[in-house]
Amino acid sequence: MERPKSLVAGNWKMNGLEASLAELDATIAGAGGASCEVAVCPPATLLTRAVARAAGSDVAIGGQDCHAATNGAHTGDLAAEMITDTGASVVIVGHSERRTDHGETDAEVRAKAEAGWRAGLTVILCIGETEAERRAGATEDVLDRQLAGSVPDGATAANLVIAYEPVWAIGTGLTPSEDDIVAAHAHIKRRLRERFADGAEGVRVLYGGSVKPGNAETILALDGVNGALVGGASLKASDFLAIVAAAP
Ligand code: 13P
Repeated sequence: MERPKSLVAGNWKMNGLEASLAELDATIAGAGGASCEVAVCPPATLLTRAVARAAGSDVAIGGQDCHAATNGAHTGDLAAEMITDTGASVVIVGHSERRTDHGETDAEVRAKAEAGWRAGLTVILCIGETEAERRAGATEDVLDRQLAGSVPDGATAANLVIAYEPVWAIGTGLTPSEDDIVAAHAHIKRRLRERFADGAEGVRVLYGGSVKPGNAETILALDGVNGALVGGASLKASDFLAIVAAAP
């Protein structure tokens, strides 16, 4: 099948104040006419301002998490509908930092993904093994468990993006070997095909974990890699744009 258009998404995590919007402006200016799709997920406090800055541009804006419920007594949480209400069009769910810091289970991640779809958002759903799991040879088992438990029924190429983010590669400067990335992506795609048949053909699988300008071209060209989810390097427009430019 034809290679789907790549997506390069920036996850700002808990970084970014008003002054950081200058980097977003530079990203928006530089991403015009990019060969891939581009998204930036700033902290929730900047969503509305980011959407205003990105209006009419080629850059989509997204949230980093959502609650499964539409509203209610959940102090500090954001409903997916609130993210849509800002004008954002994407939401990340199941990031390993949420799974670790907040003990999010696969079932909760699945409910959050369903909430994202309910609110009309494209869901970027993160999965990936820890270092101990990889050393134990359990990577595929972990991916299977997370895919089966976190991905709701009804996934399509339009509503779902999977981000394969090995936990040990996040923020460490370490990346899996090229062969290991290709193998993990092929495994994920195989499982999606088995479960969703043609419906999920074209679901993009991004690689995430220490993607930098220096390794982006190699990683983004690998078989089965349909883009990148970028943390640290998305905070600086020049770095992020270099990754965007490296996308096939
Ligand atoms: P880094 O690019 O900083 O390793 O973070 C990856 C990530 O967690 C993106 O969601």
